[in-house]
Amino acid sequence: MLRALMSAPNFRHVVVTGANRGLGLAFTRHYLQQGSHVLASARDLDAADDLTALAASHRGHATLERLDVADPASVEAFAGCLPFEEIDLLINNAGVYGGEEPRISDVDPEQLLVTLQVNAVGPLHVTKLLWPRLARNARVVHVTSLMGSISDDTSGGRYGYRMSKAALNMMVRNLGHEAAERGVVTFAIHPGWVRTDMGGPSAPLSIDESIASMVETIAQVGPERNGAFVDRDGEPLPW
Ligand SMILES: NC(=O)c1ccc[n+]([C@@H]2O[C@H](COP(=O)([O-])OP(=O)(O)OC[C@H]3O[C@@H](n4cnc5c(N)ncnc54)[C@H](OP(=O)(O)O)[C@@H]3O)[C@@H](O)[C@H]2O)c1
Repeated sequence: MLRALMSAPNFRHVVVTGANRGLGLAFTRHYLQQGSHVLASARDLDAADDLTALAASHRGHATLERLDVADPASVEAFAGCLPFEEIDLLINNAGVYGGEEPRISDVDPEQLLVTLQVNAVGPLHVTKLLWPRLARNARVVHVTSLMGSISDDTSGGRYGYRMSKAALNMMVRNLGHEAAERGVVTFAIHPGWVRTDMGGPSAPLSIDESIASMVETIAQVGPERNGAFVDRDGEPLPW
């Protein structure tokens, strides 16, 4: 454990999407406390009170920018205003749960497209535009869900969410092939079922518990795991 911590990389420059609440806010807090410079993004900075307060207590190390990952113009504007030359860690965290959709008759195709746009196309677009700015050995982490596992779907429902995370997982698997050539490590991580707005109050894990495991995994996963789908402790999950 001590060895792992001693060899943990120092992520000087970190980018987090969906940083105003839930896991994104907690990732941002963790890396600021580690001394990283964090570019933390949110759809509506005027309503991001917790994030604004966090940034104020880490002046000089936190930069806040607006980013709606589902809006291509917003992604382009975001990619054009990085406060540092190179990114050591990009966390594609922003996501939506979509509708409950227990049956196919409940699915609204327009709503499903929005979920796909936020959870799958958005992270691809952000990664595409930030790709040239990744440092050698940078990590690109995609916060996915076990609900995107095709083989683990034993209950049905949540069409849009499941489909969007399955699409994200495929994007990550694909990207893993070119990440190695680029000297970058990319993988998809399932945070567990966590008590956020999305996870709800019945979830077994606190935000701190999930984040503590994920940041350790992010520090330890190396190029041999490029394109992997893992749980918060870094264990492989079934596609
Ligand atoms: N909590 C769980 O149990 C769980 C389990 C598996 C996977 N996950 C994944 O973990 C990630 C974080 O989820 P969470 O639990 O922290 O959820 P959350 O508390 O609902 O937070 C979601 C975050 O995503 C942002 N977001 C939504 N749409 C966006 C868009 N178009 N552009 C930019 N940001 C957007 C939200 O911003 P606004 O405030 O503007 O809406 C918010 O900051 C998600 O990818 C989720 O799928 C969570």
